[in-house]
Amino acid sequence: MKAMRIHQYGGPEVLAQVEMQRPAPGVNEVLIKVHAASVNPFDWKARAGYVKEFFPLTFPATLGSDVSGTVEEVGPGVARFKRGDEVYASLGLEGGGYAEYAVAKEAIVAEKPGTLDHVQAAAVPTGGITAWQALFEVAQLRAGQKVLIHAAAGGVGNFAVQFAKAKGAYVIGTASSRNQAFLVELGVDKAVDYQKTRFEDVVHEADVVLDTIGGDTQERSFKALKKGGILVSIVQPPSQELATKYGVRALFYGGHPSSSNLAEIAKLIDAGKVKTVVETVLPLEEAPRAHELSQSGHVRGKIVLKVA
Ligand SMILES: NC(=O)c1ccc[n+]([C@@H]2O[C@H](COP(=O)([O-])OP(=O)(O)OC[C@H]3O[C@@H](n4cnc5c(N)ncnc54)[C@H](OP(=O)(O)O)[C@@H]3O)[C@@H](O)[C@H]2O)c1
Repeated sequence: MKAMRIHQYGGPEVLAQVEMQRPAPGVNEVLIKVHAASVNPFDWKARAGYVKEFFPLTFPATLGSDVSGTVEEVGPGVARFKRGDEVYASLGLEGGGYAEYAVAKEAIVAEKPGTLDHVQAAAVPTGGITAWQALFEVAQLRAGQKVLIHAAAGGVGNFAVQFAKAKGAYVIGTASSRNQAFLVELGVDKAVDYQKTRFEDVVHEADVVLDTIGGDTQERSFKALKKGGILVSIVQPPSQELATKYGVRALFYGGHPSSSNLAEIAKLIDAGKVKTVVETVLPLEEAPRAHELSQSGHVRGKIVLKVA
């Protein structure tokens, strides 16, 4: 099969097309014929070696956490799927998605939303699952609460906005000038242009902050929270000194693959309550270009690699 693999850490150019043996599904695993795979910032961070301290790659490595495709073959013990089923999955940090076939544990695979094609469905898994877990499983966001979502136009943020709105929360999103109208389309109650306004000057008494940026944005986010509120960062551990100073909880959260989250998200999508946003579609062999674009930090929604 065809795959885009890397044999060493480096720039986008280390992604190279290779022919390799098609993997076989083991016990409780399914083999997915990948139709589309999306790109996450983790992919270029792993490729460049930025995360090798906590997630060293074994070379050659096939990156890519998010896939949508068709079940080609099932391993022993698989009960929920059969050949031909249309599925989507987050494969987690191990990746394997930039290829014509990928193996996944049955437990992390879900039925693809019926209303989406594979390109749109591939845009969902990691961004959707991370937003879902951070908002509902960690922050326990409830109807009527106020939530500040940073990078609301990005791969995680666009889902966070839509899920929080579907829950009945009051949603504030941050983005640059170019994305202000887009945030309104997504459904935010208030869009903040971080190029013109310091968000902490206009956002007060939030119950929840979803930090997708870190650094200075994370530090200033404490000022936007109400006492007893919670800051969930998906990028770096927040300062516990600041948490104590402001009387809030603050923690780092790393998402994990979940078929039940994907099933819940598929229901919202098929009910027309959540849409997917794909800014760019490229053929698999243009993965290096996709990484360059992702690395720019200004993707709207997702970049998807079309595999078949
Ligand atoms: N812990 C986990 O489990 C987990 C899971 C997924 C992702 N992550 C991490 O979370 C981060 C976000 O992921 P992602 O997939 O959403 O990234 P992404 O799609 O690449 O984010 C791009 C978005 O960031 C926005 N942005 C850039 N600078 C901003 C700023 N200063 N303020 C507000 N928005 C800004 C851009 O909007 P403009 O163009 O308008 O600036 C763009 O829409 C990444 O670092 C990723 O590695 C962690």
